[in-house]
Amino acid sequence: MNTPSHVPTPDEESQRQQWDRVAAGWQKWWRTIEDAAHCVSERMVELAEVEPGQRVLDIATGIGEPALLAASRVGPAGRVVATDISSRMLDIARERAAMAGLANVEFRQADAGWLDFPDGSFDAILCRWGVTSLPNPPDALATIRRALATDGVFATAVWGTGADSRPLASLATAVARDMFDLPAPPPQAPSLPGSAEGALKQAMIHAGFADVRAEEIRLTLEWASAEACTQYILDVSPDISALFLDRSSGQRAEYRQRLAERLRPYVISDGSVRIPNMTICAAGRR
Ligand SMILES: C[S@@+](CC[C@H](N)C(=O)[O-])C[C@H]1O[C@@H](n2cnc3c(N)ncnc32)[C@H](O)[C@@H]1O
Repeated sequence: MNTPSHVPTPDEESQRQQWDRVAAGWQKWWRTIEDAAHCVSERMVELAEVEPGQRVLDIATGIGEPALLAASRVGPAGRVVATDISSRMLDIARERAAMAGLANVEFRQADAGWLDFPDGSFDAILCRWGVTSLPNPPDALATIRRALATDGVFATAVWGTGADSRPLASLATAVARDMFDLPAPPPQAPSLPGSAEGALKQAMIHAGFADVRAEEIRLTLEWASAEACTQYILDVSPDISALFLDRSSGQRAEYRQRLAERLRPYVISDGSVRIPNMTICAAGRR
């Protein structure tokens, strides 16, 4: 439900295409992702005080989290609306909801920068790992706050800034830079400055949220082997996947080999890979 008046900019269109391209990868690796990430959805739903009968919005739901968890919590008397910019992600989310027998969740394609729900539409709003993808997080936070009912709660998760927050993403980017001589990221990335705990809390307070709290959550992702781990990042990361669109299979193989070498500290005795991550969960009340 993009606003009818909003025509996507070329940047928005390219972002949508990048996420569409990795949707099948998210489906393929969903068990790996969700085994680690389920605790984050659980905590967000708890912080947002989601209860039976409520109306919940999940923004940038991807292939359906935490929307599906919320749908099971609000029950048949409640309703969940889940939005994402990528129609392919949403197709998979719909399939997952149907397989789980959840009829109280509705999926809509919408850019989170242009949501136009009437004020006070939701008792709780969730957004797991989506806020910092937006071109203007402060505006998005203000829009989210308006869509909440009085006393409604917004709960979100964002990645921290340090290399120990998401080691695989950091290593995958570093190897790509070494191999392809990529430019450093722009100093003014279009996101919350740093997306760290303090910055997120500040942005939420600035958007008018009350009772703002934030906490760190640790989650460990696991793969059967370094090869599986390198395939994972090529399949699910829109940036890394885009980088290989026009490269040869030799370059892809070299990238995988270089990345596998950098993963050695995370390989355990049976050859599997365990990478600890740290995310920030925050919540605020309208
Ligand atoms: C890291 S994934 C997280 C998906 C899901 N919330 C989860 O935790 O598994 C980020 C999601 O944000 C969506 N996204 C990116 N930019 C967006 C935008 N401007 N508006 C809405 N969704 C967006 C992508 O399509 C993708 O599904």
